[in-house]
Amino acid sequence: MMMQDIITIDGPSGGGKSTISRLIAAKLGFTYLDTGAMYRAVGYKAQKLGIDLSNGQALAKMLDSINLNLIPNEGDTKVILDKEDISLAIRTAEMGLIASKVSAQPEVRAKLTEMQRRIGEKGGVVAEGRDTGTIVFPSAKYKFFLDAKPEERARRRTLQLREKGQQANELEILAQIIKRDQDDIGRSLAPLQPAANAIIVDTSKMSIEDVVRFMLEKVEKSRKNSDNNPQKAE
Ligand code: DC
Repeated sequence: MMMQDIITIDGPSGGGKSTISRLIAAKLGFTYLDTGAMYRAVGYKAQKLGIDLSNGQALAKMLDSINLNLIPNEGDTKVILDKEDISLAIRTAEMGLIASKVSAQPEVRAKLTEMQRRIGEKGGVVAEGRDTGTIVFPSAKYKFFLDAKPEERARRRTLQLREKGQQANELEILAQIIKRDQDDIGRSLAPLQPAANAIIVDTSKMSIEDVVRFMLEKVEKSRKNSDNNPQKAE
């Protein structure tokens, strides 16, 4: 596979991935690919239809006729499922856990990975998720893994939900974060882990601006190197 102009940003939930991915995509004029939103949409549909979240075959059947569209919308992403705008409905903590459950099914991962690769085909994409640097785009040019202490991630997620006018209990959120980390890291299929060549950034004590600046510097540096050594870039 050719080296693609793709930036992958993986890591656990609450590490600042989505805000940072959006800012980097906007800065570089790239498309932002929110792979977590896709798993959330699959979970949403399965729950609505009353499908057993651990039944891979039933989920695969459901996916055969799924009509899922991610539409860039003023720096954000509109998620349209079978003509319904579910952008807000999938952003709850409950949907995060449901997404994590369906994401452990091989049939679901295979289908969504294929959809993600299709979106990435033309390059110019910032892909955000858990396995974008390891499985979806293993030959991406720039890979990052954003991490932060669970307590800090819980604090950020609580603030984020409250800003949206939703109720949030920080301790409950911390427990959910720890549980979801365990599920995402412990699963045998596409577990949450940094790609061997990913740059790991601990964002616990960094501001969003610091992280974005650091990452853009890395991308720029790497772009300059490949301009000077074009044969090394492939
Ligand atoms: O990033 P997020 O919180 O929206 O992701 C929701 C869940 O989806 C996450 O707990 C695990 C799953 N997921 C995944 O398995 N692989 C991805 N590339 C993205 C998300």
